[in-house]
Amino acid sequence: MKVLKNYWELGSVVSDIVEHTLTLPEPKLVLPTGSTPISLYKELVNRDLDWSTTTTFNLDEYVDNTIQDQSYRYFMMENLFKHTNMYDDNIYFPGDTAVWPDLSYGTGVDLCILGIGGNGHIAFNEPGSSFDSETRMVDLTEETIKDNSRFFPTIDDVPTQAVTMGLKPIMSSKKIVLIANGKHKLNILNVAMNGEQTESVPASILQSHKNVEIYYCD
Ligand code: F6R
Repeated sequence: MKVLKNYWELGSVVSDIVEHTLTLPEPKLVLPTGSTPISLYKELVNRDLDWSTTTTFNLDEYVDNTIQDQSYRYFMMENLFKHTNMYDDNIYFPGDTAVWPDLSYGTGVDLCILGIGGNGHIAFNEPGSSFDSETRMVDLTEETIKDNSRFFPTIDDVPTQAVTMGLKPIMSSKKIVLIANGKHKLNILNVAMNGEQTESVPASILQSHKNVEIYYCD
């Protein structure tokens, strides 16, 4: 795990990795939403990179078409995509197709960026998700609904279901970068990286990936 000085350095160091990936022919990226990647997206926008040949897959999306400006598509448009020369046709969210499970989603990915939930979830693969799980619809745990309520007027407005990229396709990415911000993430990072590999801690699956980097700042 690399410990960085602050949140802005986190954005800058991970932007270097993204910038390098964008030089590949037809790069494919998996991207997270949430609080942690905001400094990364700000820095990427500042760098004014060429995204024209890039395809992105987001990790997850709520199942609720009433939430509009709380949807992860909206978040990504506002924080990154609308400031780049990405083609709309190259932007994918799980749930775009009605196929369950969607086996084609996020295949051939060069770089997958992940956040980590307080309960060890990655994307919305909650504790108990199979290490073989595919991209699918899931029920969110009470803990995750509570965590996400900070973005909604009341906890009752938080969607209870999402479509998430599965652990299996995440693990098929050539490179994985996990980002975490805040002391409250230290314990779960330690459990996930150094504890037993178990489906009760979904992020512990990353111990089996050959090319994972973890970046943390307080
Ligand atoms: C979001 C996602 C989630 C978050 C995680 C951490 O697309 O996949 O797994 O990465 O909940 O969220 P933050 O960054 O808000 O702490």
